[in-house]
Amino acid sequence: MQPKVKAAVLASGSGSNLQAILDELHGDPEIPLEVVLVLSDVNSAYALTRAAAAGVPTQVVRPRDHATREEFDREVAAVLDQHGADLVILAGFMRVFRAEFVRRYAGRIVNIHPALLPSFPGAHGIRDAFDYGVKVTGVTVHFVDEGVDTGPVIAQCAVAVDPDESLASLEAKIHAVEHEIYPETIRAVAEGRVTVAGRDVRVLGRRS
Ligand code: GAR
Repeated sequence: MQPKVKAAVLASGSGSNLQAILDELHGDPEIPLEVVLVLSDVNSAYALTRAAAAGVPTQVVRPRDHATREEFDREVAAVLDQHGADLVILAGFMRVFRAEFVRRYAGRIVNIHPALLPSFPGAHGIRDAFDYGVKVTGVTVHFVDEGVDTGPVIAQCAVAVDPDESLASLEAKIHAVEHEIYPETIRAVAEGRVTVAGRDVRVLGRRS
């Protein structure tokens, strides 16, 4: 049996992606991953409630309690270290880490973005794509590098924007795809099936 990868999930909001990860991966003896911590930058994040319901430790680190972004990053890193986290999973975490933090966890931070990067980076990927009038958008899972939504792509899935699509219906379609591909991709990372050479990322034994 492979030793379990200790994952910390960072979330600022509802935590539906966290829930998918907990449901699909956490507590399964067949899967070499356990969620050891859910960390949020927001006291009221519903992700914290989901974590508590699953018996996963939680911690809040708020930017406003730190004088600089570097101090905030250092506090997050200290909490991750306290919990022995060796994989950092961003799941709707609406903060950008500085280069020092990213270098410290190089190759061990993954993020999900609700658009087909490099199109529509930033905090409003679904709405920006919808407003632009694209016919196809989607979901990207990528390693985090020192830029914003610029790291090597691990997985992408396209989502059609139908003629009568509303923003709400597109959001629902995007989230449903996220909840499929994020756990599946994280599982591949935990199982050591993901190789990275520069921007060339390969997933061995991909099931889809
Ligand atoms: C997700 O759609 C995720 O892709 C997005 O935030 C949402 C969080 O939802 N992330 C970004 O936009 C990052 N730039 P959740 O809290 O229900 O998982």
